[in-house]
Amino acid sequence: MSIALPLTDEKRRAEAWTRFDAVAARDGDARIETLFEAEAGRVGRLTLEVAGLTLDLSKQAFTAEGLDACLALAEACDVGDWKRALFNGAAVNASEGRAVLHPALRAPDGAHFEALGEPVSREVEQVRDQMVAYAEAIRAGEEAGATGERFRAVVHIGIGGSDLGPRLVWDALRPLDPAIDVRFVANIDPQEIAEALTGLDPASTLVIVVSKTFTTQETLTNAVLARDWLAAALPEEGLRRHLVGVSAAPDKVESFGCGQVFGFSDWVGGRYSLWSAVSLSCAIGLGGEVFRSLLAGASEMDRHFLETPLAYNAPVLMALAQVYNVEGLKRRARTVAPYAHGLRRLAAFLQQLEMESNGKRVTREGKPATRGTGPVVFGEPGTNGQHAFFQQLHQGPDVVPAEFVVVKQTLEGRDGAPLWSNAVAQSEALMRGRTAEAALAEMMEQGMDQGEAERLAPHRAFPGNRPSTTILMDRLTPQALGALLALYEHKTFIEGVIWDINSFDQWGVELGKVLAKRVLGAAQESRDSAKRAPESWDPSTRSLFERLI
Ligand code: F6P
Repeated sequence: MSIALPLTDEKRRAEAWTRFDAVAARDGDARIETLFEAEAGRVGRLTLEVAGLTLDLSKQAFTAEGLDACLALAEACDVGDWKRALFNGAAVNASEGRAVLHPALRAPDGAHFEALGEPVSREVEQVRDQMVAYAEAIRAGEEAGATGERFRAVVHIGIGGSDLGPRLVWDALRPLDPAIDVRFVANIDPQEIAEALTGLDPASTLVIVVSKTFTTQETLTNAVLARDWLAAALPEEGLRRHLVGVSAAPDKVESFGCGQVFGFSDWVGGRYSLWSAVSLSCAIGLGGEVFRSLLAGASEMDRHFLETPLAYNAPVLMALAQVYNVEGLKRRARTVAPYAHGLRRLAAFLQQLEMESNGKRVTREGKPATRGTGPVVFGEPGTNGQHAFFQQLHQGPDVVPAEFVVVKQTLEGRDGAPLWSNAVAQSEALMRGRTAEAALAEMMEQGMDQGEAERLAPHRAFPGNRPSTTILMDRLTPQALGALLALYEHKTFIEGVIWDINSFDQWGVELGKVLAKRVLGAAQESRDSAKRAPESWDPSTRSLFERLI
């Protein structure tokens, strides 16, 4: 059954963009620090507490009127209707005719979701229960390997959305000395799987192959290597006990030789799939209860997103801050700095989530997008990034908005202040900057010779006025992590709605895959014959090929 997608009033949308552009042009140079005096209550208005997270957007660049223009734009783009369309299981991914229902995966038992009119929640609960039961059986040693040994290591093989989410969850929540070691393999570079398997005993190792399509070259290549490694050491009849597959193509998993298969549906996008059996490795390593708490945190964010008016809706305000920076102020990049070692792969996760979702150049209708669409996203954990690229954030010619994700207490019993104080200081420094006069006065006060101080002052000046958002959490709990990742998912979707693009397809990755197959095919042929690239290729590609073959 098809559920209608929102039909936007083009005139109203165009008018909202015109107002947005006008306000951004007028207010674009306003100094953020002066907005606190001009707008009484700015901090309170732009601080939200949601699902265990505190978001402070008050150091963003929009003025009160800029925010109003952003909210009017969101209304004119039917953000409310699009939210409901997503949760109601409409074909929001129109280019593939699919519903987009990751919220159904984390909804509490008894929820009712439909994808294109078909109920899905019972099946979701069944798979979730089976997955958690299997994870607990592995943890208890009730599910053992071919020789009766209990599993002590899990090797998770997958790439992109079948890797980044679970890897982030494991890094964030893992115990210091886990009873079951979880290792991840994504790259087709054989070095990665060699490193992952080193030191492991096949008799106590479970290999989980995760691939939505079960056709991905990197994953299948690594899966074959892992299967061979197991087969060389284990009795043939018990091999299947060591191989598990998670996929939307269960028949392919079975023919690969997996003893257990966990499925998910095509309405779960790869980069939105960590809430499904894609995170089986984490459920095994962390336990079913932790996995369920992760889902509960995300589900709390879903409720907030669905039910809260746009003006106080955390994902919507985060999206509007980004749209204002990209469209209003032409800032085509954003950096993310998680102040927590456990979140060190957050930027990589967000790169796929945001850049694969919104790195688009045509509208939903296939017309050229007249707006900027998704910016470049990059980052490193704080404080490491401060000693690398933050120099450019502070003094480079381009303004790069920043996002600080701060965990107050990362390790039980240790003082968190040395870590979080850096995040707070960075956001202040980026906003305030320091004039050359202030730098000069400071050096003189310290007793520096005037000539020398004047020579150094321009080097020691900071323009400031660089916007940032700060997200705080007390501890990196499963609930807080779930809420954080769901926040980013919904933010990404809302940006797509405002830019009028489909955030749920990824045709842009296809051409490279096709050409890689062609190059590999030519390499395999050329090994035994003349080491030449086909004449039809361009000279540069031919030259590279002939150097490598
Ligand atoms: O190539 C991009 C992509 O299709 C991602 O969207 C996806 O997360 C990744 O590859 C892995 O795909 P699969 O889970 O089907 O192996």
